[in-house]
Amino acid sequence: MTRKRSVPFVVDLVAGTRPNFVKLAPVERALRAFPGLVPKVVHTGQHYDVAMNDVFFEELGIPEPAVHLGVGSGSHGQQTARILERYEECLLKDPPAATVVFGDVNSTVACALAAVKLGIPVIHVEAGLRSFDRTMPEEINRLLTDAIADLLLVSEPSGVENLRREGITEDKIALVGNVMIDTVAATLNKMDGAAIRYRGLEPGAYGLVTLHRPSNVDNPIVLASLLRLFAELSAQLPLVFPIHPRTRRAVETAGLVDLLEHTPGLHCLPALAYGENLALMRAARLVLTDSGGMQEETTFLKVPCLTMRDNTERPVTIKLGTSRLVGNNPARIWSAFRDVMAGAWPGGEDVPLWDGRAAERVAALIDSWLSNRGKASIAG
Ligand code: UD1
Repeated sequence: MTRKRSVPFVVDLVAGTRPNFVKLAPVERALRAFPGLVPKVVHTGQHYDVAMNDVFFEELGIPEPAVHLGVGSGSHGQQTARILERYEECLLKDPPAATVVFGDVNSTVACALAAVKLGIPVIHVEAGLRSFDRTMPEEINRLLTDAIADLLLVSEPSGVENLRREGITEDKIALVGNVMIDTVAATLNKMDGAAIRYRGLEPGAYGLVTLHRPSNVDNPIVLASLLRLFAELSAQLPLVFPIHPRTRRAVETAGLVDLLEHTPGLHCLPALAYGENLALMRAARLVLTDSGGMQEETTFLKVPCLTMRDNTERPVTIKLGTSRLVGNNPARIWSAFRDVMAGAWPGGEDVPLWDGRAAERVAALIDSWLSNRGKASIAG
């Protein structure tokens, strides 16, 4: 830890969506331990429902945002543009020493762009991940953010290779591990050992399902086929299904509410708080999801994960972890489901640097990086 500077560095930490909050929480805490750094939480308002937002701040101990941009929902263009415009105003009034962005959501790219154009250094946590699928909005957000970031902090080895291939110089890249896993580890430590019991379901006797990607929910034919499949699977293994607001809206628009509500093995819930979801995930026989974060969390927890995507930007979850890509094809999903039920599934290995201490490494790097930049600019 460095000695206290006469003027501390203010570091903006930008979050807009549920997975951002989970990544920001440990980094904010770790930065506070450095006397020369003052973390400042900036909330874009991309997610705004209590269940997607307030609950996470409370549970993860994130301080009230110093700035709330209140952008809400909209098309990609609208949402990104509103964030860009409103964050730029804040930066002009109150420029930080650096802006830290997380992950791959619209808030990430918009705030990175606003900052870099004003000469404010951008630090990207969870840099370098690539699905190589440019139909995903997140892939575009990742590519653009990494192209303009000054310091790229990477969660798994594939990220380092991707950045090198894209011509990012070594001095900007650091493999720090996975800050999302810090939150899993910290939450598990606090959780009591009691097994989760939800409506009489025993540990290991149910599956957990989540679904929210545009590729799975925006097309009513795909959505209907997945919901029918869940209904069939739930006759063999009860399924708990916390529903993302985007998915809830798509189900209503497609007139599929009855299918969800009248299937006895399918337990539909609203979007869950972080700890509740983690408890359900930990004790599940399997997880069926299209969430990037849950691919990583199940790898850490060593719970079988059927990933409803055709590609992943997190290949370590397949190479070392417990995840298998099953797309949204019912035959592939059934086949993987049977393998899990038959016990024919890899147990998974530990992923290097997914050790619950990634945020400490992030904070130490930010501290030394900003100090060195400070010295360089004084010398220059
Ligand atoms: C966003 C991210 C996605 C991430 C996900 C996690 C982008 C491009 N996508 O997707 O990468 O995995 O967050 O949840 O940034 N809605 C509500 N209440 C809310 C938020 C959203 O009802 O608090 C509904 C609205 O109908 C909204 C829709 O969900 O239009 C989509 O929200 P949006 O933030 O655009 O994308 P997500 O699907 O949540």
